[in-house]
Amino acid sequence: MAIFVTGDTHGPQSMGRFSVDGFMGRLNTASFPEQKSLAKDDFVVICGDFGGVWDVDRLAVRESPNEKNALDWLDSKPFTTLFVPGNHENYDRLTGCRDEALIASWFFAKMPPEEKDKLRKGYPRIAWHGGFVRQIRPSVLMLESGWIFDIGGQACFAFGGARSHDIQDGILDPAQYPDESAFKKDYKIKKSGYIRVKGVSWWEQEMPSQEEMDRGRRALRAHLDAGGRIDFIFTHEAPALDAALMGFHETNALTLYLDEIRKTVPYGQWFYGHLHDNRKTAENRHLLYEQIIRIH
Ligand SMILES: [Fe+2]
Repeated sequence: MAIFVTGDTHGPQSMGRFSVDGFMGRLNTASFPEQKSLAKDDFVVICGDFGGVWDVDRLAVRESPNEKNALDWLDSKPFTTLFVPGNHENYDRLTGCRDEALIASWFFAKMPPEEKDKLRKGYPRIAWHGGFVRQIRPSVLMLESGWIFDIGGQACFAFGGARSHDIQDGILDPAQYPDESAFKKDYKIKKSGYIRVKGVSWWEQEMPSQEEMDRGRRALRAHLDAGGRIDFIFTHEAPALDAALMGFHETNALTLYLDEIRKTVPYGQWFYGHLHDNRKTAENRHLLYEQIIRIH
């Protein structure tokens, strides 16, 4: 059993400033030849901003042809892909839309009720190796935040999410507009800046819920109280100390939560993405981007 880990992929192909390669560019056999000796009980962990579930379809809950092709390709690889969710993920499709105002708005007016029910649910949620995952494909799984997964005998704590940096000029919420033309008028004025659209290119679930944070605390406490050790931590966001070391001094509930874990939980190695670089911030904490490293 082998575990490899890498940073943000942002979808299947290179996306300009958002990604150097995409997961098809990074995990093909030429870029990642180690896979020749791997099997489905070997794992590649992506530290958030997977981006393979991204497109918005206002008529039905379905993968676009490009997405379907890319996810099938990933599922056909001789390893299992795991990812923690990042900030650039379509959470409504991954884990279900909780925004009833958006579902009821003009934005989804043409979506039939049975599709709206699917939109509320997301991909199937199944128990897996001590926690819960969203099953995108049999061997492409999103690790839900706040569980300790047993991956080949290694105790792996997973926690996704991050506050987006690229929203300086605001977030437009389609549900706040009476109709499409009112929305488009405002969008035209603002689109030259760093804006994102709720339910289209930004989702509020990018920041973890209190429930997820509490679940993580409980899981860690119970595991440590039982004499267990944490071998690996996989997150998208960096703990506050590491973010500050790299020039991001603004803290938020998630960076502080991860810093609490950094200070109170003994762990083997910690890997995170989000900041789009490959850096070692401590002997056992690593920011990863396009590198793929074997950790077990
Ligand atoms: Fe990213």
